[in-house]
This record gives sequence, structure tokens and C-alpha cells, in this order.
Amino acid sequence: MYKVKLLLVFIFSTLNAQISQIKYSLETKYIEVPLDHFAYIEEPNVFQLRYLINAEHYDEMGPIFIYTGGKGDISVQAQNAGFMFDIASTFKALLVFIEHRYYGESLPFGDTSFSSLKHLKYLSTSQALADVAYVTKYLKTTFSEIEELQPTVVVFGESYGGMLAAWLRMKYPYLVTGTIASSAPIFDFPGLTECNTFYEKITDVYNKYGGQKCVEMIQRGWDIIAAALSKKKIGKDVLSELKICSKIESTKDVEKVLNWLQNILVTLAMANYNYPTNLYTPLPAYPVKVFCEKLTPYNEINNNSFIHHYSRALDFYTNYTGNNLCNNINYINEDLTEFAWNYQKCTELISPRCSTENDMFVTKPWNYEKYAHDCNARFGVKNVRPDWATLAYGGEDLKYYSNIVFSNGDMEPWLTSSVVDNITNSIFSINIPDTTNQVDLRQYNPADNNYVTETRNFHIRTIMQWLDGEN
Ligand SMILES: *[C@@H]1O[C@H](CO)[C@@H](O)[C@H](O)[C@H]1NC(C)=O
Ligand SMILES: *[C@@H]1O[C@H](CO)[C@@H](O)[C@H](O)[C@H]1NC(C)=O
Ligand SMILES: *[C@@H]1O[C@H](CO)[C@@H](O)[C@H](O)[C@H]1NC(C)=O
Repeated sequence: MYKVKLLLVFIFSTLNAQISQIKYSLETKYIEVPLDHFAYIEEPNVFQLRYLINAEHYDEMGPIFIYTGGKGDISVQAQNAGFMFDIASTFKALLVFIEHRYYGESLPFGDTSFSSLKHLKYLSTSQALADVAYVTKYLKTTFSEIEELQPTVVVFGESYGGMLAAWLRMKYPYLVTGTIASSAPIFDFPGLTECNTFYEKITDVYNKYGGQKCVEMIQRGWDIIAAALSKKKIGKDVLSELKICSKIESTKDVEKVLNWLQNILVTLAMANYNYPTNLYTPLPAYPVKVFCEKLTPYNEINNNSFIHHYSRALDFYTNYTGNNLCNNINYINEDLTEFAWNYQKCTELISPRCSTENDMFVTKPWNYEKYAHDCNARFGVKNVRPDWATLAYGGEDLKYYSNIVFSNGDMEPWLTSSVVDNITNSIFSINIPDTTNQVDLRQYNPADNNYVTETRNFHIRTIMQWLDGEN
């Protein structure tokens, strides 16, 4: 019986400048994958998909741990999936991080991947899952042609990548034995989650870590800022306080500023870890608390000084280097990762969102027609498919599936669109009190609370059971 071992050479891959701390060494590999897994197309019909490998603790009897990349550069995501490195020696596992097509270096048409719908149309969850399946199959057969001799595969993912990790187990159960899906909001689709729950959960986070007064000030702030920006004369002062790069000329511009502020508040909630992190920008522990502590001492003051204090309270986020000349509220539109992500949000990953008087944001209804119209204006997409993901992956009907652990921080923004109940005796939901998203997949940290430790132990025990079941 012949068995080909992967030739694993250790080199330090050239990592993206975004990573300030490179903790783990990874070897960069590329594999040619079909551009369209589901139909015959004319050339070019393949492209290079990037994946990263760490075999430091690998032993030939060990499993393969596959990480399904989500939105963004895989080398950044791998550095933040420390749990896999932490447990690699226990399992003698080979670690493989697979980049999602259209992100990082895995661009099917290189520089022109985003230039037209003709080039963008191969960006879908089904194609991305087929990529991972293709690479997984390739890796397994590289070890042995005989199925019984092939290594067992366990999949990990977080956030959107966690959704893919769960879906991979559902769609390709013969390839992967089980999935750890951390903070994977697989119910974030029309008909599965109410549109108001996301912003209400963010408001809960601010209430819990920043206090009710902070929530009230944020709530009051929108009108003050919008009114000030709308009046030309006062607008100038507000601009100098908020340090916006561009001119504010229309109500659309005002809306952009409010959206920009809202996104910052959402990001702070997402990054509300109990230790300093560098996921989005360098942030202190509990950034929500930090912001609210800066904001709330200034309550009974006039509108202009309110904006002054609000802006300065955000400095630790907007200007942590002290080198940011002004705030570019258009930034999001320029980033390729965001572009690809927004395309996905406009074609398959439709998540209804609305704000009501029960949250701290500007009241806004969910309007699917407007959403679809904006997507059409932006990308030229006409038949948005809001129900596709539910059709493809089963919506709430998880009872047909097996071997998936869904874990969530109980203070994470997406909790309300995640699996929060045990479904069967092998589809688990683990709730991690007093934490935000994806904590369990991050590297061990002395500041981790006991619930995080217990969750990681649960993952380890469950993976051991899956592996035992295979032998
Ligand atoms: C402050 O702004 C709010 C919201 O625009 C407005 O209702 C209020 O009258 C303003 N107060 C002063 C003192 O200008
Ligand atoms: C960032 O901080 C520097 C130094 O304090 C200041 O000159 C600059 O205006 C600030 N930029 C923004 C956008 O707040
Ligand atoms: C699901 O089951 C596991 C294992 O029994 C348990 O630890 C966990 O608390 C349960 N989750 C929920 C949401 O009840």
C-alpha cells in the first residue's frame, strides 16, 4: 500500500503588512481549482487558490484541521485562530488554512476580478464550499488513494467562515468528520431572524459594559450631530470636531457620517474583548467601556461641546496612532475586501436589519425593495437571491445534520442569528457568558474567563470523540 507524504518545508511566508504580530509560521501553497465547479465553461476555467500549512506538530497518524477562510486575507485570519495552534500538539494535527476565493491573493481574474459582473459571478458560497471540498479531497488523496488510510478531517471557522465550516459538514459529510463553528450566524437570513435583533443586541452590550447613561447619550447624539451637520454655518465647526476629510453638502453626506459613526460603535461591540486586541485596529480591553467612560462625564452641556466630547471619546479608535490627518468616511467603498463582501451581501448573504426605538441607533425600517434597488445600482445585480442560502443549507432545519458545535459569546452582536440551542445529540450549542465573538478560537490568553476555558475543553473532548468514532 503506497502512501505519499506531503513534503513540508518550513519557510516563513511573506505576510501581509496588516499583521503587527506574526506569531505562527505558515507555509504558503497554491492549488489550481476550477473557476466554476458546477458547469463546463471555456478557458480561463481554473485559478490559483492560496492555502497555508503548519505541520510543526503533525504526525502521520494525526488528523487534518482545516480552517475555512471567510471574508479577508487568510494569513491574517490564521494568525487569529490561535486555538488550532494551541491544540495541534495534543492531536498531532496538520493545520491547513484555506483562503476564500476573491479575497486576499485568491483572485480568479487577478486585478480585474472585481471589474465586472462577468468576473464577479463566480463569487458565491457554493463555489467557495466546493473549493474547500476540492482542496480537502486533494489533501486526503495525497496521503493515500485508499479511503481507510486517509486522515480524518475536522473543520474550524469563525463568523462567516464559521457558517462555511458548518455548511461544509452539511454538504460534504463524507469528507469532514465534524465542525467547530465559532460565532457563526447561520440564521442571519430573511425569515429566520427578526430585523431588529442585531442593533438591540449591540445596545445590550453598551448597556452592560458602558451603562445606561452611555446608551442614552448615544441615542440623543444622532439628532444633535445630524442637525449640526445640516446647518451650513455650524456644520463647519462639527466638521472640524469630527475631522471628516470630505465636504458635507447633502443629506446623503450627513447620512454617511451617521453610518460611519454607527459602524464604529458596532465595531467596538464586536471587539469588546476583555484584553487588548488588534483585529480591526489596535484596541484596549473592553473598548465599549473605554468609550463610554470617556463620553459619560460630559452630560449637561450644549450641543457643540457634546460633539466635541463625542469625537474626542472616539479618538482612541479613529486616531490611535496620532497620525490620522482626517477621517475618511468613504474608506469602506475603496477596500477590495469590503467590495467583495458587499457583493456577497447583495447577492446571497442578505441579512435584514432595522432599528427601532428599542435600540440606541437612528430608527430605520428594513426595506427589502430599497436594499435590492441599491444593490442593483451598485453592482448591476438584478435577481438578488435572499432565499437561496436557506434553500441550500436548510434554514432552521438542522436536525438532519450531525457533528457540529456552534459556540457563541453571549455578548456578541450576532447571537440572535446564531444557533443557541442544542438541536440533536451531536449538534451542540455552547453559550460563553461575558464574552464577545470568536473568543474560543483565539489563542489562549491569561485573561480568558472560565467559560472560555470550559468551551475550549468541550471542543477538545468533542473532537476526540469524533476521531475515536472514525477508528
Ligand atoms: C440640540 O440639538 C437637538 C437636536 O437637534 C435640538 O433639539 C436642541 O434644540 C439643541 N439644543 C440647543 C441648545 O441648541
Ligand atoms: C490625530 O491626532 C493628532 C495629534 O494629536 C492631531 O493633530 C490630528 O488632528 C488627529 N486626527 C484626527 C482625525 O482626529
Ligand atoms: C448543550 O449540550 C452541552 C453538552 O451536554 C452542554 O454543555 C451545553 O450547555 C448545552 N447547551 C445549551 C444551550 O443548552
